[in-house]
Amino acid sequence: MKSNIRFFKKSKILPVDKFFKNVLYDNKIGYYSSRLPIGQKGDFITSPNISYLFSEIIAIWMISTWELFGKPKYFNIVELGPGDGSLINVLLRSFKKFPKFNSIKKIFLYEKSNYLKKLQKRNISDKNVKWINDFKTIKKGPVIFFGNEFFDALPIKQFKKINNLIYEKNYTFDKNHKIREVYKKASKNNCKILKSFKILKKLNFIEFPLFGFQELKK
Ligand SMILES: C[S@@+](CC[C@H](N)C(=O)[O-])C[C@H]1O[C@@H](n2cnc3c(N)ncnc32)[C@H](O)[C@@H]1O
Repeated sequence: MKSNIRFFKKSKILPVDKFFKNVLYDNKIGYYSSRLPIGQKGDFITSPNISYLFSEIIAIWMISTWELFGKPKYFNIVELGPGDGSLINVLLRSFKKFPKFNSIKKIFLYEKSNYLKKLQKRNISDKNVKWINDFKTIKKGPVIFFGNEFFDALPIKQFKKINNLIYEKNYTFDKNHKIREVYKKASKNNCKILKSFKILKKLNFIEFPLFGFQELKK
């Protein structure tokens, strides 16, 4: 078995979110970067792979939203973290039954893993689907952003309050390559961010999705 300390790369100690970013998304050794973990042959299954109904209901909701907006001439749909492309394939098939909507909608996919991007390009035959890294490239019309199990696949930070001081959970490893948890005083910036959320005041253990907020800001 390969040692998990390879996920530390060149560091000796990493906060939980940065460690899991390497575990999940490192371009060479990350969980989502070297194989498809989703589906019958994978480690877990998600709703688009259980029933077409899930994706068909989303398709109908998108078309009714377009109608509600007064059927604009430009209408964009962005899927965040499309996995193996199952969901978007059912959407594309369903949209064909609504020719007017089908002819104006534009579809964009936002995917971090190069491995999954390649797989999606193989699985999705529609040539009008585009992969993007920057949402600013979408210039005209309303945009629906959606994703299944996207935000919960983003690593989080963990903090503990002791005597009113905030400590951040980090991982390190000992001389036998055993991974250990260590708490370090949280940075001034992280303390400031956490203190700005009233809801966190009474908690002694805090999970905080900094990467999730960074995605929301894009
Ligand atoms: C749990 S999988 C869900 C896949 C698919 N939506 C489904 O329901 O089967 C999470 C997906 O989000 C992608 N992903 C995770 N973090 C990302 C990021 N920061 N930017 C773009 N895609 C990301 C993963 O590579 C993967 O495709």
